[in-house]
Amino acid sequence: MAYTVPKLTDYSAAALEKAASACADACASEMGTIRTDADLKTFRDRWLARKNGILTQINDLWLKSAPKAERPVVGQKVNWLKKHVEGLVEVAGNRLLLQRAPATQYRTVVSLDFGGPVDITLPGARRPIGAEHPVIRTMHEIVSVFQKLGYSVAEGPVVETDYYNFEALNFPPDHPARDTQDTLFIAGQESKPQRERLLLRTHTSPVQIRTMEKMRPPIRIVIPGTVHRNDPPDASHSPMFHQIEGLAVDTNITFGDLKGTLDHAMKALFGSNVKTHFRPSFFPFTEPSAELYVTCFICGGSGKRGADACRPCKQTGWIEVLGCGMVDPNVFEFVKDNGYDPKKVSGFAFGMGVDRLALLKYGVDDLQYFFQGDVRFLEQFG
Ligand code: PHE
Repeated sequence: MAYTVPKLTDYSAAALEKAASACADACASEMGTIRTDADLKTFRDRWLARKNGILTQINDLWLKSAPKAERPVVGQKVNWLKKHVEGLVEVAGNRLLLQRAPATQYRTVVSLDFGGPVDITLPGARRPIGAEHPVIRTMHEIVSVFQKLGYSVAEGPVVETDYYNFEALNFPPDHPARDTQDTLFIAGQESKPQRERLLLRTHTSPVQIRTMEKMRPPIRIVIPGTVHRNDPPDASHSPMFHQIEGLAVDTNITFGDLKGTLDHAMKALFGSNVKTHFRPSFFPFTEPSAELYVTCFICGGSGKRGADACRPCKQTGWIEVLGCGMVDPNVFEFVKDNGYDPKKVSGFAFGMGVDRLALLKYGVDDLQYFFQGDVRFLEQFG
């Protein structure tokens, strides 16, 4: 028997619930019989028509004729029923559309939730999950090795003055060592005194001075950051790259401390098998200075990979990792007033390029991949 809207006399919660669910059940079972567009129209009109549709009748018979006190409860039930019936009518329409679409075609249906066309056969919208950039990840690893040794992290500006990038690091004006840095200068600074002229820092070493100006000894800091040099980009060069600087100043810091600290750090980073090796070098701000080499962690120090030559270490079995040395007393002179009397304190410093280490670590053969922002490259590190 077709459903007809009963009059309500009992407004208790139980009676309302019973009446509403009887109505909802009736709607659902009528929906099950729809086969054609004409059926759908009849169904929709019967339930939703403004004039004398079932929902309208319910509004009149249940809500409007209810005693005032009961109206809020009745209203809630009627609203629920309205939403429910409207939902069923929409589902009925969707079902017809779906049945009609050929199985080989994309089926477009009207979604209940999104209000627009949704192609249910396409993959869902995936939320891409980012990954830590390999250079940043390598940076974090290096920093955390030193944090465990009690080092803190310091940072400084990328646009730097000549004073911090060169002068206070014992590069005298016109000293040839400045040429090794391929500096990018900010234009239009000629009217300023040289030490105030701005440039893109060529290394993270200026933050040594900046930190010593702010903090009295003893200090132990690592300084991660970007640096710039006028190098055209290629597989192993980039005008922007990353360094991590280290600085330890205290009384009685010796070259032995430098060697022990860096040997430990290299083993923590590349595995306890690696050997370290120091070769004399020159930096204006350290004396003596050295370059640190580790046994090649690709070929294990043999210089060979099977029958082939090991490319990353150029068959030498050693990879240069960083520059280092004992802080030059001339550098302490610039921060003497903050407790860095070169006669009382000593220290060591080191600076390493992060990008090349990340290249070797992840077996990437072109530095440019790191900076092109190509998601297909980056998502491999997720
Ligand atoms: N700043 C040097 C460079 O960029 C590296 C370095 C840092 C050397 C600290 C010694 C001490 O080449």
